[in-house]
Amino acid sequence: MAIEVNLDLPEALQNPTEYFAAARERGNIQWSSHHNAWMVLDHPGVEEGLRDAERLSSDKSATFARAARGQSEAFATAVSMLDSWMNFRDEPEHERLRAPVRRAFTPRAVSSLATEIQMIVDSTLDGMDRSAADLSHDFARPIPALVIGAVLGVPPGDRHRFYQWSHDLGQLTFAVNPGGAPADEVGCAATEFIAFFNELIERERSEPTGSLLSTIVASSGGMTPLELVGACTILLFAGHETTTTLLVNTLGHLLTHRETLAWLRAHPEAMETAVDEFMRVMGPARTLTRKVSVDHERGGHELWRGQNVFLCVAAANHDPGVFANPAALDLTRDPNPHLGFGWGPHYCLGANLARLEAAIALRTLLERFDTIEPRGDILPPRASALGYGRRPLPARLG
Ligand code: HEM
Repeated sequence: MAIEVNLDLPEALQNPTEYFAAARERGNIQWSSHHNAWMVLDHPGVEEGLRDAERLSSDKSATFARAARGQSEAFATAVSMLDSWMNFRDEPEHERLRAPVRRAFTPRAVSSLATEIQMIVDSTLDGMDRSAADLSHDFARPIPALVIGAVLGVPPGDRHRFYQWSHDLGQLTFAVNPGGAPADEVGCAATEFIAFFNELIERERSEPTGSLLSTIVASSGGMTPLELVGACTILLFAGHETTTTLLVNTLGHLLTHRETLAWLRAHPEAMETAVDEFMRVMGPARTLTRKVSVDHERGGHELWRGQNVFLCVAAANHDPGVFANPAALDLTRDPNPHLGFGWGPHYCLGANLARLEAAIALRTLLERFDTIEPRGDILPPRASALGYGRRPLPARLG
């Protein structure tokens, strides 16, 4: 039976292959009154939409300007910093903001972080209560924030503050109406982290630490001071919640699918392809949103300027036209052209870092503990249209 897409439904999360196959019977592109958006559901359509920055805009300036109106100065500063995030901008601004960060995230610079990531993972595991661990709170949550701290050259003692800032920023970026975000909390956090990052940037200018931030600062000639702080905060935000969610989804799956855990333990050499398959099947970004900037025809429909478009990564990643047996989790799947890190001009700058981090975290956990088992019930993932909600992962390690 053909259905109208509603990404909030549990079945869209639990059985995406079947759900999106039924949804595609109404067309690869269709209007969803629930989401008030055009939904793109096939892999070629989502990929093409991600490339088509000329007609599908990422710009959120108008939304941010509305959010800042009549608010405190601190809140308005937080909003204007978000306005300088490259993922919310179109060309030519997007490339101006992206270029210095791209220069820092070379494959060589990212792989040079492996030793430090390993140390972060080891010390996180050392500090965990094995008999009463929560793999979500004690493992998946701290590691990505600590890694971003390393990327930015933050002294280890200061890195733990990153969680809270990431959480506070999330209230603004994830708010459907950013103007409704808790202004005092967001304003206070913004004042604090802007001061913190300004200091960090100043230090990189006078005594470069050799971190990835050194490269960003060195090539940031065309950026304002607030844009440079914005670049630091986008790394914090884009690299934290997302990587945490990937780890939570993966670990949640391993705790409830003993055979997958046993297979991965027996095949550590498959960790890289496994991480990409977890990204395909349970990747953090379920939908990427755009706005129509020019009236045009797409898949036989008239799209009008100002309308919302949801490029459904979760649907594309289960498209049987591209993935053989998309419902199966195949940890050796290669090639795996999933769109979990996006595509085109906004393709994730941290994709290789996220892959490296997830591979080191999972490999170390499996190497260090012969027993990794759930302690009580593991709740299923919770859906939200754009991603996933938080959940605990109580576990016993031995
Ligand atoms: C599993 C973890 C991650 C996932 C699933 C993820 C996913 C994504 C996706 C889907 C986009 C494209 C957004 C769009 O087209 O609207 C994106 C962009 C971005 N990501 Fe990631 N990401 C992850 C980790 C990271 C990390 C670790 C960093 C850096 C430390 C990072 C930095 C960025 C940046 C800077 C952008 C903006 C690129 C642009 O707009 O040009 N991401 N990410």
